[in-house]
Amino acid sequence: MTEQKRQEIFDQAAQILKINDRGTYTVPTHGLYPFQWNWDSCLTAIGQSYVDEHRAWVEVDTLFAHQWEDGMVPHIVFHQLDDGYFPGPEVWGTNRSVPTSGITQPPVAGFAVKRLYDMAKDKNLARARARELLPRIDRWHEWFYSNRDPANEHLVALIHPWESGRDNSIDWDAAFERVPTEGVAPYVRRDTQHADPAHRPTKAQYDRYIWLVEHFRSLDWNNSVLHDASPFQIVDPGFNAILIRSCADLAELAAELGEPDIAKRNQQRAADGLAALDKLWSDSLGQYVCFDRAACSLIDSASVGGLLPILVALPEHRGDALVARLEKLGESCRYLVPSHDPLDGKYDAKRYWRGPVWLIINYMITDGLRKSGYNDMALRIENASLELINTGGFAEYYDPTTGEPCGGASFTWTAAMVMEFIRRAA
Ligand code: GLC
Repeated sequence: MTEQKRQEIFDQAAQILKINDRGTYTVPTHGLYPFQWNWDSCLTAIGQSYVDEHRAWVEVDTLFAHQWEDGMVPHIVFHQLDDGYFPGPEVWGTNRSVPTSGITQPPVAGFAVKRLYDMAKDKNLARARARELLPRIDRWHEWFYSNRDPANEHLVALIHPWESGRDNSIDWDAAFERVPTEGVAPYVRRDTQHADPAHRPTKAQYDRYIWLVEHFRSLDWNNSVLHDASPFQIVDPGFNAILIRSCADLAELAAELGEPDIAKRNQQRAADGLAALDKLWSDSLGQYVCFDRAACSLIDSASVGGLLPILVALPEHRGDALVARLEKLGESCRYLVPSHDPLDGKYDAKRYWRGPVWLIINYMITDGLRKSGYNDMALRIENASLELINTGGFAEYYDPTTGEPCGGASFTWTAAMVMEFIRRAA
């Protein structure tokens, strides 16, 4: 790709961030997702910092302004009413002045804030903003280990598939069968009016998503009881790796900014988490897998959640094995990294998290690969990502074989990640 082409793509990406900017937060895309999403915002801020560092810090600050009193940072903040999205604030019923959802999302904030700080040209601004965010992110990490790790195993569980960020992954199928559907109040989906229903989760899945929301609402969103009360408790290696990496990054940042207590706590969390992660290794698949805590068994499912641990400081043999896995996946599809192994019978090339490539995942995986010195594989995935953009535009996700763009268009975090792919290598 020529330098001129790269610059063109970079400028288009910056334009998408602008179009989706609502002043103090950015929507993932117009129509389909009209509010602020947690991990979307943190990753978006990284792209924003290339054009406006101040605006990037505001993005993360806005999210943390809605942190719950118990420390949780919610997955959606409903800044403005918009009936184009279901389930809206009335379904969540979290009773907050600015309504939020009642569950959380992958904790990329520690990772993102460290990246913002490292990239910052205005170090005074970065120091001031990062210092304010440090204790808040630390509280969120604390919240995870005290509410989602009751047996002190150093691995946290999700209680709703939406928390994983990989909403309809094949990983959840068996455990999701235990979630009832009876008694769910009648509802009308909105997502299928904005995107092709064949690219979205099914009705049976939606019934269960909503059953869980209603169940947690009936328990007043009291996080001290929700974990044990949920029929769905999944330990996701990708989610835990993100948390571990954020703890490690927060620890480094805190040390640099003269906050030794925060540094120490997070360093310990990262070390404990890293040691515990090995329990999720599957020899037969050659990657990490989820653990179904309610059923007490590993889930034999080869999703990209099991590759994300490349983000953390893995022992070398595990890193090598994950790179071998990526090579293998590359033999069955043109564009890495599919969200699920194409050789699995349940793989679905266009259905959301059951096969398609997502550029935020490619970004995190390549960050990890580069950090551990696997530069060839990183470059291969970065090039595949730019090729997808070049042929399909800034889509929500892509078919790993044909490169067809799927889901929403002009997608914010896709654009933000592309800016990183282009500039990181420069
Ligand atoms: C979908 C994705 C989730 C994302 C959200 C907004 O729910 O699965 O990861 O945060 O859309 O883009």
